[in-house]
Amino acid sequence: MNLLIKNIKQLVTVSAAGKRFKAGPEMNDLGIVENATVLIENGRISWTGRTSDFEQTVPDSIDTLDAEGLVALPGFVDSHTHALFAGTRENEFALRSAGKSYTEIASAGGGILSTVAAVRAATKKELKKNARKHLDGMLRSGTTTVEIKSGYGLNEPDEIKMMDAINELADEQLIGIAATFLGAHAVPPEYTENTGEYVQLICSRILPYLARRKALQFCDVFCDNGFFSVDQARTILEAARTLGISIKMHADQLSQIGASVLAAELGAVSADHLEKIDDAGIAALQRAGTIATVLPGVSFFLNEEYSPARKIIGAGVPLAIASDFNPGSNMSFSMPLMMTIACTQMRLTPEEAITAATLNGAAALNMSGQTGSIEPGKQADIIFYDVPNYRSIVYHYGTNFAAHIVKHGTLLDY
Ligand code: NIG
Ligand code: FE
Repeated sequence: MNLLIKNIKQLVTVSAAGKRFKAGPEMNDLGIVENATVLIENGRISWTGRTSDFEQTVPDSIDTLDAEGLVALPGFVDSHTHALFAGTRENEFALRSAGKSYTEIASAGGGILSTVAAVRAATKKELKKNARKHLDGMLRSGTTTVEIKSGYGLNEPDEIKMMDAINELADEQLIGIAATFLGAHAVPPEYTENTGEYVQLICSRILPYLARRKALQFCDVFCDNGFFSVDQARTILEAARTLGISIKMHADQLSQIGASVLAAELGAVSADHLEKIDDAGIAALQRAGTIATVLPGVSFFLNEEYSPARKIIGAGVPLAIASDFNPGSNMSFSMPLMMTIACTQMRLTPEEAITAATLNGAAALNMSGQTGSIEPGKQADIIFYDVPNYRSIVYHYGTNFAAHIVKHGTLLDY
């Protein structure tokens, strides 16, 4: 697909110049070009710059988009979601309004385990149908790449059913998808007395099977009190690493048990959540070059404390923002909304929020060589917004201003 996009009012490139991610003050550098042109050849960006400097020869067969009055950003990379599920949990939302906490609801048998029951009862076809609706909504609101985790099966057939569904959705190429195995999302009801046996099932059967079929890009573990201990997380993640699988972790969400220190020690690509991260965890992530992925929508939706994003950025740790879209702790996949919450509640600048939701999100998926910024050589994932300037995308919140979506060089018909 060849496409020439002219007269872009403001092009936010998030230029990385070959860097995997941005950290510290660089997160404020968005590489903005006023009155810009972008040339896309075979789905890839081949030129960006000021329209007045454009002198390239264009291919014979090319479509043109006049982006007069529009602001262009890289498509968002939502690097942490649980977008494949069945059923919904409005009842828990109402219980929380009445004062119950996420942890209290989970201990009473609700939470993740109620979605597990619904996912086990659903067919792969039903799961995919539900997810397609969400993926379409994500794309419309500017997300061009998304990570999806398993973790609502919690047994061999149902975890494999989830991973197969995620991979089949990826093959449909509606949106870019990275598949993460999260078999250790909660202790299955069948294994409350012998969690070690479930850990062994993951390490000796499920992970090797998935790795053989190249069905996963990442292995994740929810390491927290009442879920998987640091030792259990280490066992699973070392098994994944031995199979050549990159690592992620749900770390320091509900309590501080040393999860982000473990993530750093194991060379995880990202440690996610981090509401309870301490100075030792921040220093460990910085030394390891592990990306800190914060999930502002979760703190907002559960009315709980926010991750110390300013402190994390101040320590030079690359920070990414993701939605964590799931039926329990955040029923929203709007990346612009997550960015607004990050600005108002975590005190990020709009510029930092944009870098965190694009380039750094791509880095958290090992994909920043392909997407996350608008630069020659990368695949053309670009969203055009009908707003006065790029800050409006975060400032004028709760409304979707996406006017055109270009995914992998194709101008989608929305
Ligand atoms: O990232 N922390 C654990 N897992 C999810 C919640 C999933 C659920 O409640 O269904 C999270 O917040
Ligand atoms: Fe999560």
